Amino acid sequence: MARETWATRVGFILAAAGSAVGLGNIWRFPWVTADNGGSAFLAVYLGIVLLVGVPGLLAEFVVGRRGKKSPVGALRDLSGSRGWGLWGVFYVITAIALLSFYSVVGGWILRYFGESASGLVGAPPAYFAAPGQYFGGVAAGPDAFGFHLLFLALTALVVLGGVRRGIELGTKVMMPAVLVLLVGLAVWAGARPGAAAAYAFYLAFDVATVRANFFDVLGPAAGQALFTLSLGAGTMITYASYIDEDRSLPFDATVIAALNTLVGVLAGLVVFPLLFSLGVDPAQTSPGPGALFVGLAGAFAQLPGGVVIATAFFGVVVLAALSSSISMLEIPVSFLVDEYGLGRRRAVALVAAGVVATGGLCAFNPTIAGTAVFGFVAGPLVDTLLTVGLIAVLLFVGWVMGRDALAELRSGAGGPSAAVATPWLLAVGAVLPVFLVFTLLTTVGVDAGLGFWPTVLVAVVVGAAAVAGLRTERALL
Ligand code: PFF
Repeated sequence: MARETWATRVGFILAAAGSAVGLGNIWRFPWVTADNGGSAFLAVYLGIVLLVGVPGLLAEFVVGRRGKKSPVGALRDLSGSRGWGLWGVFYVITAIALLSFYSVVGGWILRYFGESASGLVGAPPAYFAAPGQYFGGVAAGPDAFGFHLLFLALTALVVLGGVRRGIELGTKVMMPAVLVLLVGLAVWAGARPGAAAAYAFYLAFDVATVRANFFDVLGPAAGQALFTLSLGAGTMITYASYIDEDRSLPFDATVIAALNTLVGVLAGLVVFPLLFSLGVDPAQTSPGPGALFVGLAGAFAQLPGGVVIATAFFGVVVLAALSSSISMLEIPVSFLVDEYGLGRRRAVALVAAGVVATGGLCAFNPTIAGTAVFGFVAGPLVDTLLTVGLIAVLLFVGWVMGRDALAELRSGAGGPSAAVATPWLLAVGAVLPVFLVFTLLTTVGVDAGLGFWPTVLVAVVVGAAAVAGLRTERALL
């Protein structure tokens, strides 16, 4: 059977943007920004999205569109090496790890959405009375497991529909709905008392904080950029493998990154005015689950018309999460379909069955060797997998594909974007991997031991060596 392709160009853009826009935007982005210097951090973050995110997206797109297979097949075929194919399995594993915790969080959201919606017609949502206690009761255990199953089933249902009738159609509905609802919510939130103070908090242009902590800020900014753009998991390779026409990949990557940033900023414009309007101090509210499910839930409980707002809000989050989770499930599914010739149905059933178990581990959240599973998977494990995964793709594009990557990037791209091809390859092959290793080092605090300038020096030397190697090895530049 012929491999499926996107029906329309906008279909691919919305599917990829749908993958990018998710919990990372609504749940993490506003807090990371507020915690790290507001709009000054936003500027750093935008710089990273532009200089790391967009080239990274392009790298995955180039591998996907040229390889026309799941990450495993694409890496193997393009390199002619079984080793790279084996490395592709790394992305299948990353996707399963991601989906395992994401589906549990998606389940929480489904529950809150259901509770809020039933509050429209019946008694007020159960979480209104005591948000903290309520969340504590449902976050882990059989409850969490049940809703994880429900969210996973929804995800599987969309992916079962295939590329066009499932993912493309689904995201064509979900993405515009997310945008329209979020804009509506932001306008509404802007009319709350205290909105001005909220904006001042969220978008404070705190250069001093950024300058004083520049290298501490880089880590979170880079980590956030990867997660939110769905980079390093092979999703973008997989989605790009369904493109069958030559069109400008740089243009698509830029649009996707811009849409993703827009949603993050919008989410903050909703979240902070809500908290401020109730006198909740966001600086005291921890980021993460607590913020969304306790802080905001408490706000909804007290606002006039809070049930409606809560329903719309959790509705947005459900849609955003779903359009991301389907992209995670599609990776292992495309792997089984491409490599083992499985039918889509069987492949979905098989992977979903596996994630019932691995997600179950996150839902029941036992402590293994002193570490709670959920926090470990959602935090350090996923962060590391994505960073390592992206570094590998970048090196693959720079060193293994080389000229082929340039040709692929140029095909369908207009003059200006074709002109950036060579600098892009240089960045992808050498500068960005070094930068990512560097941020990984600062995240674990190596720079503290080594000192700031020596760490920079190490990065520069390695970068220069890699560039020199690239020149002689591939005679490229
Ligand atoms: N970008 C998604 C978010 O911001 O929630 C998360 C994500 C989806 C990460 C798909 C990685 C991925 F492959």
